[in-house]
Parts: sequence; C-alpha cells; structure tokens
Amino acid sequence: MKNSSETVSATKIIEEFNRLRKEKNAILLAHYYQVPEIQDMADFVGDSLGLSQEALKTDADIIVFAGVHFMAETAKILNPLKKVLLPDLEAGCSLADSCPPKEFKIFKEKFPEHLVISYINCSAEIKALSDIICTSSNAVKIVESLSKDQKIIFAPDRNLGGYVNSVTGRNMVLWEGSCEVHDIIKTEAIIQLKIDYPEAILIAHPECKAVILQMADFIGSTTALLNYTIKDPAKEFIVATETGILHQMQKSSPGKKFHIVPTDETCSCNDCPYMKLNTLPKLLNCLKNEKPEITLSSELIEKAKNPILRMLELSK
Ligand code: 13P
Ligand code: SF4
Repeated sequence: MKNSSETVSATKIIEEFNRLRKEKNAILLAHYYQVPEIQDMADFVGDSLGLSQEALKTDADIIVFAGVHFMAETAKILNPLKKVLLPDLEAGCSLADSCPPKEFKIFKEKFPEHLVISYINCSAEIKALSDIICTSSNAVKIVESLSKDQKIIFAPDRNLGGYVNSVTGRNMVLWEGSCEVHDIIKTEAIIQLKIDYPEAILIAHPECKAVILQMADFIGSTTALLNYTIKDPAKEFIVATETGILHQMQKSSPGKKFHIVPTDETCSCNDCPYMKLNTLPKLLNCLKNEKPEITLSSELIEKAKNPILRMLELSK
C-alpha cells in the first residue's frame, strides 16, 4: 500500500511527465509487464507485436519506451530519425542474452540451407542475422507462410520454437535459449492451483516449458491471453506468465478472478526483474533529459530492418 506522500509525488511526476510529453511531442509505449501506474499513463499498452506496429505508425518526435532493451531497439530500427528513450538501459532480457551474436553466427553457418526466424526477444545483431522476425502472437502464422519443405532455424526461445513445431508439424532447428521468468514455472505449482481452484481455466504464454503448455486450456501472447479472459465466459483463470498482465485483466473483467502461478514458495508473483527496472521517477528523468537514448549504427539498422518489416507485412 502506498503512503500519502508517495501518492502525492507520483501525481506530481505524472503531471510533469504529461506536460513534457505535450511540449516535446513525445509518446509513451508500455508493455503489459510494466507496473500498473506506468501502464495507466501510457499512450499505448500492448504486446511485442502491438508495440512494434505502434512504433511504426507514430508521428511523435520522441518515443519513450517503458519496456526492455530489445523492444526499444526495435522501435529505433523502425524509426532511425526519431529519438527513442529507455528509462533504464539495464532493462535487458534473459532470453535475448541467451543468444550471443558471435555464437549464433557460427551455429547458423552449420545450416546453410536454413532460413532463420527469430523471436523479437533478441538483440539487433541477431535480428540482422535473421530472415524474418516473429512475436509470440504471430510465430505460427509466420512459420506457416513458408513452404512445408523450407528448412528453418528458430531462435532464440526453445520453448516457443518447440510449441510452434508441435502446432505446425515442422521440425525447425531450435536455438537453446529461454526466458528466466517463464522457464521456471513448475507443474507442481499449477497442480496445486488446479486443486485450490478446480473451476479455473489455465492460460499460458508460449515462453513456458512444453509440459506447462500441454496442461494449458489456452496458449497465447500477452494480448491474446488478455483477450481470451475478456471473451471466455469462465469466471476464474490460472495465469502462467508475468504478473504485470493481471492489471489489464482485472481492469477489463472486474468480476473475474485471476491467480498468477507462483515461481517459488516464498513468492506469489512472477516479476520480470528487467521490466520492473522502469519506475515513474526514471520515466520522468528520461523524458526531461532525453536520455538514456537508444543508438545503433546505420549499418546495423539497415540489416535488422528488413526482417522486422517482413514480419509486419505478414501480420497485416
Ligand atoms: P509478448 O509481448 O509477445 O506476449 O511477449 C512477452 C514477453 O516476454 C516480452 O518480453
Ligand atoms: Fe525477457 Fe522473459 Fe523478461 Fe520477457 S519476461 S523481457 S522474455 S526476461
């Protein structure tokens, strides 16, 4: 619970941010894994696909990205002439870090006939080594847009890649990366919740392990999970993903109950430590000082842009 002086300073920060946002023609894009107060002040809240579509169409001069580094990089690649700010440059991603470009290049060279599809949760360097990018909401569609006999490397998430293999019947070569938040969700925790809430529907993000996905009633990106909870008549859901998504679920369906799957006995929440580095004071400082700013070489932008544009074209 916030005390009254914290509430007053939060209100002041938001007021000042709003003034600067107007003055500087800035836009605030936020991922669903951000804390509720940041989601509530954003111009757009969405999943990785929605955020990149929004970044492509904005006419703002400055994009403040309340998300993690690879998301802000994607916005910069799509908008090389705009200023893209990330409130904390340390907001990385364990999944993106699990695929170092040098090692991936050597891996890729072993499969000269394969096309590379990379999940958007990767660095700009990995995007530049890829043929098409995908997100968790369009991975199946992107893979199915290629002919059945096309050989494919899928990077960096082995869980999402394995899920896409199982849905499409493909045999993509998988890079062995994973997300530290989703990969540690355990079956025991889900079984316990199913015992505690027998009426609840299990919904899971495809970054979870295969064993969790096999138990799930519905699998989808953060936006897909949110929409599912809105449309499905069930009154109770067990949610296997990061805790931030609960904010929009509760806002959209105040009469429904949501149980996040705990990642260990001492914690009832799954917070992505990178997403949660963004705070209101950091958000205000970054717009005020116009830094930290995402910078990329024009050569890297040129190479990384086409695979992203190919995805956006295929997602229309
Ligand atoms: P989506 O936004 O595509 O659901 O992905 C979730 C995620 O882990 C972002 O880092
Ligand atoms: Fe990366 Fe996982 Fe955090 Fe998403 S939840 S940003 S994949 S570490």
